[in-house]
Order: sequence, then structure tokens, then C-alpha cells
Amino acid sequence: MAALEKIPDKKETVIDAHNISKVYNADTVPVHAVNNVHLHLLKGEFTALVGPSGSGKTTLLNLIGGLDKPDSGQIYINGVDITRLSSGRLIDFRLQNIGFVFQSFNLIPVLTARENVEFIMLLQGKGSSVRDRRVKQLFGQIQMENKLDSRPAQLSGGQQQRVAVARALASKPKFVLADEPTANLDSQSASNLLDIMLKLNREEGMTFLFSTHDQRVIDRARRVIRLVDGRIVSDTAAVSTAHTQ
Ligand SMILES: Nc1ncnc2c1ncn2[C@@H]1O[C@H](COP(=O)(O)OP(=O)(O)OP(=O)(O)O)[C@@H](O)[C@H]1O
Ligand SMILES: [Mg+2]
Repeated sequence: MAALEKIPDKKETVIDAHNISKVYNADTVPVHAVNNVHLHLLKGEFTALVGPSGSGKTTLLNLIGGLDKPDSGQIYINGVDITRLSSGRLIDFRLQNIGFVFQSFNLIPVLTARENVEFIMLLQGKGSSVRDRRVKQLFGQIQMENKLDSRPAQLSGGQQQRVAVARALASKPKFVLADEPTANLDSQSASNLLDIMLKLNREEGMTFLFSTHDQRVIDRARRVIRLVDGRIVSDTAAVSTAHTQ
């Protein structure tokens, strides 16, 4: 891992967080889960968020994803400060702009793989031909064309997580946030999932920010941001493989 590569200014900024902080238990024993963090992510970046357990990775992802509000600071997503949006507008903003992948897959058990992926597009009001085209494209990319009609319980953990990645990308969000996406996968499935995320990063220019404890996953990230006690202590990029579109 070489020193931080200077990324050309012309790249589009997707996440620009200024001075964000989140304190839990402010009235009793305060925990500074995220402490004055600055984070700037460009379109097409593929970034791992790492650090010890309790260092603030999940809290930071939840703040950037608008699932939780910071106590102070601003979070601009494509130029919009999401900390100022009403909860109704925030829900809509998340739906249009942010894809989420969770550690425990979180697919809807009664829906098929295809229906899980289509669900977000239905919420966005996309017509059936658009949905069909996107579903075919995504299931090709995750190499699961033959599992369209399977329910989550009929799929392996690795396959479920690939469907979850397809679901996150279905609506063409500005970026995807993933909290330990490989934590519940065996090493082969984790490696397959990384292959697919990297392919989607290359082919769709999709921006990924994911937390992980897995060194093999960290080794394949193009940028690694390390948190300790809620603060960013290092931010490095691999020069030889850096890829943005
Ligand atoms: N809802 C909550 N209420 C109180 N404290 C919390 C809450 N959520 C997280 N914390 C605390 O905030 C700090 C950061 O937690 P966070 O879950 O963000 O860490 P993490 O880096 O994701 O850890 P892990 O690697 O174990 O998932 C920890 O000290 C944690 O105990
Ligand atoms: Mg966590």
C-alpha cells in the first residue's frame, strides 16, 4: 500500500462530510463514537473502512447513509446536506441516491431473488420493461441468471449477499454502503463477492464504501480508511490499481 494518491480534481464528489461527530449516552458516560471526522469520496472509488471493534465504523456508515443523524457537522451527498433534510425527504433521498448492503443480507424472505431486486425499483415507480432489463443485467453481473425465482432460504449465504448487492445497485444509486458485507461468508464466497463488487465498480463506475475486518478484503480495496476511537488515523490508496471512472 503506497502513500495516498493525489486524485484529479475533475472527478465528481459523491460524499463530502465535514466535522461530523456522534456522541452516545451524552447524559451519563459519553461515548464519542464518531469524533470530528472529515471524509471526501469521489465517484468510482472502492474504499474499505477498517479499525478495531467499537472504533465507529458502523456509526459512521449509518451517518453517511442518513440512517442516523450526527450531533454536529455536515454531510453533503451530491451537494445536498442530508443533515438538514426532514425525515420524509431523507427517506426519499436515500431511496434515490444510496444503496445499502448489510452484514446479515436482509433479503425479504417471502420474495424471490428477482422480486427482492425489483422491490426498490417498484418503490421508485420504474415501469416493468425498465425493471426487467435491469434485473437481467444485474443477475448476469452477479452470475445468478439461473436463480431468479429462488427464495432467500433456497440460496447459500454467498448467493444471498450477491442478490443483496444487486438490490443495492438496482436503482442506480450514487454509491453503495456496505457494513461488513463478507462477515457471514466463508472465504471462497467472500472472495466471489469481492470479485463482483470490483466488477460492478469497473463496469458501472459504482462507488463503494464498505467496512470490514477481513485482511483479504482490505488487501483488495483501492483506498483504506482506518478509524480508531471514532477518528480517522490513516487514509491510504493503492497507486497501481487505483481505478475511477
Ligand atoms: N446505539 C448505541 N448506544 C450507545 N452506544 C453505542 C450505540 N451504538 C454504538 N455505540 C458505541 O459507539 C462506539 C462505536 O460503535 P460502532 O458500532 O460504530 O463500532 P464498529 O467499529 O462498527 O465496531 P464493530 O467492528 O464491532 O462492528 C462503541 O463504543 C459502541 O459501544
Ligand atoms: Mg460495526
